[in-house]
Amino acid sequence: MHKNPIIIANWKMNGLKAEGLEIIRALGNYARDQKNISEIVICPPFTLLFPIAAALGDLKLGGQDCSAYEKGAHTGDISAMMLKDAGCSHVILGHSERRQGHNEQNEMVREKSSRALEAGLTAIVCVGETLEERKQARALEVIGEQILHSLPKISSPANVIIAYEPVWSIGTGLVPKDSDIAEVAEFIARIAKGVRIIYGGSVKSGNAAEILKLNHIAGLLVGGASLDAGEFWRIINSANIHA
Ligand code: 13P
Repeated sequence: MHKNPIIIANWKMNGLKAEGLEIIRALGNYARDQKNISEIVICPPFTLLFPIAAALGDLKLGGQDCSAYEKGAHTGDISAMMLKDAGCSHVILGHSERRQGHNEQNEMVREKSSRALEAGLTAIVCVGETLEERKQARALEVIGEQILHSLPKISSPANVIIAYEPVWSIGTGLVPKDSDIAEVAEFIARIAKGVRIIYGGSVKSGNAAEILKLNHIAGLLVGGASLDAGEFWRIINSANIHA
């Protein structure tokens, strides 16, 4: 088990203000009753960044995406500096829902990651294979390509986290075998030396501890289960109990 695992909540496009603030309030209450050793990052929708920043306590804040550009005529986009200005320390980039739903290629993810690092944010760069790629035994090849082309040149272990999120595991309840996660984590550790590696895809309180025990896994990226404060706190606790 990594000494200080990072547990990241990706709320995706969920949560109006009252719901988001209620989750933060509940997490704050749990945290008052019990100290935990993990670093916790909440990535809400953009509209909730400011209200949540005001209620954060010991939690950290992250964006779910940023623009590949610094500023200017890019209607609807949010820059890395704007995230920093809203109180963010982290930003998720290259999530498969953006790679697929918004046709984001590795080169664009690299530009976005570069803007994030220039703004002083930690880039959480997501990689992962589709089910078809896994069946064709191409998972490592695809992940290798993603890492080679979507990490910025100026990246370092201090400002980049790689999130291994198999596309087929996201929101499906399917989780790879421990040995498969470990194989990918080992591979990533070899090509991105020293960079923190985390796992995402159907993480729940029932599987979090087991995944966190795997070699090279330094944290979790949690989608659906992070919208339930009690369940998310149990996931955070899996890191505490087994540390
Ligand atoms: P789920 O935890 O809902 O499977 O989502 C994972 C994810 O995409 C986190 O970024």
